[in-house]
Amino acid sequence: MTTLSAGNTNIGVAVPDLRVLDAPDDVIADLKQSVYTHKIVVLRNQELSPADFIAFGRRLGAVETYYEPMYHHPEYPEIFVSSNVKAEGKQVGVPKTGNFWHHDYSFMPRPFGLTLIYPQVIPQGRRGTLFIDMEKAYARLPAGLRAEIAGTRVVNSVRRYFKVRPSDVYRPISEVLAEIEEKTPAVTHPTVFPHPVTGNDVLYISEAVSHQMRDAGGQPLRDNLLPELFAAVGQADTTFTHPGIHLQTFDPGDLLIWDNRSLVHRALHTPQPEPTVSFRVTVHDEYDFYPGIGQ
Ligand SMILES: [Fe+2]
Repeated sequence: MTTLSAGNTNIGVAVPDLRVLDAPDDVIADLKQSVYTHKIVVLRNQELSPADFIAFGRRLGAVETYYEPMYHHPEYPEIFVSSNVKAEGKQVGVPKTGNFWHHDYSFMPRPFGLTLIYPQVIPQGRRGTLFIDMEKAYARLPAGLRAEIAGTRVVNSVRRYFKVRPSDVYRPISEVLAEIEEKTPAVTHPTVFPHPVTGNDVLYISEAVSHQMRDAGGQPLRDNLLPELFAAVGQADTTFTHPGIHLQTFDPGDLLIWDNRSLVHRALHTPQPEPTVSFRVTVHDEYDFYPGIGQ
């Protein structure tokens, strides 16, 4: 394994050649452990069909199919497609996804632990994914802020970044908003929870999805608390030079796996539109996302 970290974020390792479908179970278990330890594992030189990619996801846990069909691969709904390339004149998947700080599925009652990205068409220009390790970010928070958020909860919702679908054209916006609230009502999660594998506390907030903090009794906390937290951890930094921010680039054949509990991420898009296609598979591992979830 090669360490990938640049600067002081200490995120990421690369694995040069792993036959992900044939590897013995103990190798897959070690691989998973390194995702929790190093936060991102880049598997190099992969040549997987869509069905192989899903089969590999199943070796890591239970694959979650995205709730909005607009993102699905036309033949393999388990694959979420981010693409600006048309196939036979038809849009496949969704372009310009994830250009904001978020965890995958944190607006859902039961998020998943692992995200796998397998880029298919990589642009020449600026492209990659930015990450912040929210375990480390929590450890670096000023003691006053840590004390203030102890025992609190955060309210998450997809509503600010829900992508209007082709089928929504000519629908009244009030109807679309009502549907979002009905299908994906706001959820609350603990602001801080222990990572089930590392045991470290994770600060579970994201600029795109988290919109209110509440005390243990459900009362809203002061309005400027979330913005202060975002500023402290680097999510408010529009220059992306905060020391906690890690840029992960990738080459053809790379398959990225990351820890969706502790990493918050955002896509970098090329300033000029260039063909880009990426496949994603998401996986529930064998651990509760956080202790007591769903109770
Ligand atoms: Fe994402």
